[in-house]
Amino acid sequence: MEIFIDSANLDEIRQAAESGVVDGVTTNPSLIAREGADFESTIREICRIVDGPVSAEVIATDYQGILEEARRIAALDERVVVKVPLIPEGVRAVATLSQEGIKTNLTLCFSVNQAIMAAKAGATYVSPFIGRLDDIGMDGVAVLEEIVEVFATYGFETKVLAASVRHPEHVRQAALVGADVVTIPFGVFRKLFSHPLTDQGLEKFLEDWHRARLEVKEGAGG
Ligand code: E4P
Repeated sequence: MEIFIDSANLDEIRQAAESGVVDGVTTNPSLIAREGADFESTIREICRIVDGPVSAEVIATDYQGILEEARRIAALDERVVVKVPLIPEGVRAVATLSQEGIKTNLTLCFSVNQAIMAAKAGATYVSPFIGRLDDIGMDGVAVLEEIVEVFATYGFETKVLAASVRHPEHVRQAALVGADVVTIPFGVFRKLFSHPLTDQGLEKFLEDWHRARLEVKEGAGG
């Protein structure tokens, strides 16, 4: 499973990339707007920090507009994956962009049928939003699991990218159901490394080690 960071904050992305386990980044218009920085320079900078795919989203919602914006965004860097909303015009644009060799991510996916449309259009990624499904009382991970199963049945090449991740449990579940990628907010990412037993265990190891060294030293001196 690949791990992407779901952020447009350069400090967060830098810190996450330094961990050595990050494969890519996803952004969206809300995340970019939150940073208050210029869209193109932010995407270019993220591409310099991370050695992997970087999703950058179009704002247009009509076929021609999406195509024009997507080509402009794709030209920013070879790592760029153009994120397009999973609406009929978006799917149609992705079918064209796929033929042009432009990498795409159909986003805002909430159902198996939408995911099938993404795969048929030749999208590089499809992003089911599991947290937002949970928010409306549905089971986001169950939808994700069905998508993974259908894609395996038909050998669809589109990668399933679990998005809208809210907590570490979502990451564990995405891994268990076989998502190809999970994109994780920085706060959740940091939690993935920790366990109280690791901290307690390490403290005890170091304590035992230093005590033994001290005893050897005192023995030699005495
Ligand atoms: C995915 O690519 C989106 O940027 C993101 O995961 C949306 O998450 P949210 O539902 O927490 O906004």
